[in-house]
Amino acid sequence: MSETFEIGLGNNDNNLRKKADSDFESFWDEQAKNLSWFSPWEKTLDWQPPFAKWFVGGTINASYNALDIHQETKSSKSAILWEGENGDSRNITYGEIFIQVQKFANVLKSLGVQKGDRVTIYLPMVPELPIAMLACARIGATHTVIFSGFSATSIKDRVFDSKSKVIITADGGYRRGKIVPLKDVVDDAITELDFVEHVIVLERTKNKISITSKDKLWTELMNNVSDSCPAEKLPSDHPLYILYTSGTTGKPKGVLHGTGGYLTHLHSTFKWAFDIKDSDIFFCTADIGWVTGHSYVVYAPFLHGATQVMYEGAPDFPDASRMWDILQKYKVTIFYTTPTALRMFMKFGDDIPNSFDLSSLRLLGTVGEPINPEVWKWYFKTIGKEKCPIIDTWWQTETGGMLISFLPGIETIPLKPGSGTRPIPGVNITVVDENGDDVAPNTKGYLVIKNPWPGMLLTLWNDDAKYKTVYWSKYENCYYPGDYALKDDDGYLWLLGRADDVLKIAGHRIGTAELESCMVSHPDVAESAACGIPDEIKGEVIIAFVVLKQGVINDSNVLEKQLVDKIRTDIGAIATPKQIYFVSKLPKTRSGKIMRRLLKAIGNNEQIGDVSTLEDGAAVTEVKQVFDELQ
Ligand code: WTA
Repeated sequence: MSETFEIGLGNNDNNLRKKADSDFESFWDEQAKNLSWFSPWEKTLDWQPPFAKWFVGGTINASYNALDIHQETKSSKSAILWEGENGDSRNITYGEIFIQVQKFANVLKSLGVQKGDRVTIYLPMVPELPIAMLACARIGATHTVIFSGFSATSIKDRVFDSKSKVIITADGGYRRGKIVPLKDVVDDAITELDFVEHVIVLERTKNKISITSKDKLWTELMNNVSDSCPAEKLPSDHPLYILYTSGTTGKPKGVLHGTGGYLTHLHSTFKWAFDIKDSDIFFCTADIGWVTGHSYVVYAPFLHGATQVMYEGAPDFPDASRMWDILQKYKVTIFYTTPTALRMFMKFGDDIPNSFDLSSLRLLGTVGEPINPEVWKWYFKTIGKEKCPIIDTWWQTETGGMLISFLPGIETIPLKPGSGTRPIPGVNITVVDENGDDVAPNTKGYLVIKNPWPGMLLTLWNDDAKYKTVYWSKYENCYYPGDYALKDDDGYLWLLGRADDVLKIAGHRIGTAELESCMVSHPDVAESAACGIPDEIKGEVIIAFVVLKQGVINDSNVLEKQLVDKIRTDIGAIATPKQIYFVSKLPKTRSGKIMRRLLKAIGNNEQIGDVSTLEDGAAVTEVKQVFDELQ
């Protein structure tokens, strides 16, 4: 029996789950009415597996629901309390951001952006990032935001795939006191992309940049436009954004999200999980370049007219007290962060958070990777002072919003550190074996989702076939997220990590296939295999095994450096391996598949189970030897 904690906010709305269980379609139909629609839908759900269309026939606009609806009552309320890494700060009200978004929407129009066009955004964590996104949404352009830590090659691939004619970037962004030269990276990325017509440059750092014929300055463009731009009336399934994410195959996939369903999911979960109130100060530490930032920094808080803190830089810069300083300064009431950040804060010791006044906090959350029970308890005790419920929210880029979480806004249930508790109302989630049969309680299996939900991705950009195979082919008419899980005797779900070749490094999603194809494109490399091994802070770190081509005489230290540099320029610094091991062969099955399970076990210093399907047992011995020598 695991330890339980009885802590809630006193809410108990049993009706909600009852309604959802009896008919999930009419349940979501009710929830969608919380948004403002230009015209109502005729059909709640058009489900032609695996394609779901929600609220068919209804017209809506995300930017309208984020901004226009608040103008009468909240125009002077703070929308964003922004803190720059260098100490700059800005307080932007709902009224002010409404004007900025309309102006920027007119800027986009003046550059020829039309409904359905894609716009790439590569900006640091500054208010102009949500402004740009909401401006795209306003005119029906589909934004595709790229995390500002990704490299030129990553941007090139994504811009090429989405065919964005316009890119929005900045002269630079601050990270750990240094300027990240975003504009230079964009210049490199688009040298061969003639279809890119305009690059809009925001001046954040005022460092020197080269200006090309495609470049236009954000401020200059904004000086010449009207501050009124009505929101387009868009069909419910209009593509709101593409967000590229890593999977098990080579290049990242463009996850495509719609509008009406997605917003319904976010509006509901933000209320149920975060119990959002008008007086709250919400702070989600996620970068907007990842899905958590899209859903729970940009769309959900804006739908509710909430006030939020947005922070530009590294959480431990200039020192380990930065986060707690922000919580105290802005009197944050709801704090949403990652297990990786918590493990880092925990390592810095209790004295630092204890020296700040964190008494404004009333609810804590985590996302992105499994949280270790001892870290959960530390969060509960040291940060929440045993008075704040913790929501451990499980979801994915593809799911749009959270699907498993404790929901203190509607219920009070005992909490078990390390368990996400139960599915949100209106989704049917279970744990099955290889054949798709439910496993017995407390048995590890695969998580599956048995019905469509409103935040579900529409498809993969330009690739319906891949969408079908990746998510809907392992089990018939069930969505397969690629996670291991178990359900305990109380029906609580425990998420046990990825069941596929996707890694979670500090909560960031990276595919082993991406890493491997990057390494084998080095002229000296014949084969490679990447895997994750446990790490005290980051959850997982990358190690790679590399087989060189015959006759290569390059020194292994030099090669390792070249490979690391290559990964950093082709993918980004977040994908840097901790160690690269050079071996003469990789363990493979007789059919030629690399046995990553074995490599992972060796990296974890685990017993190496069944190797009877191995092509050549000597490979294991060698990999083990090389690994042991470098430990
Ligand atoms: C993992 C992030 C355990 C999981 C929102 C999932 C989690 C992947 C949790 C999606 C959690 C996310 N507990 N694991 N609370 N939340 N994950 O697309 O493996 O970056 O499949 O979305 O993160 O990562 P993504």
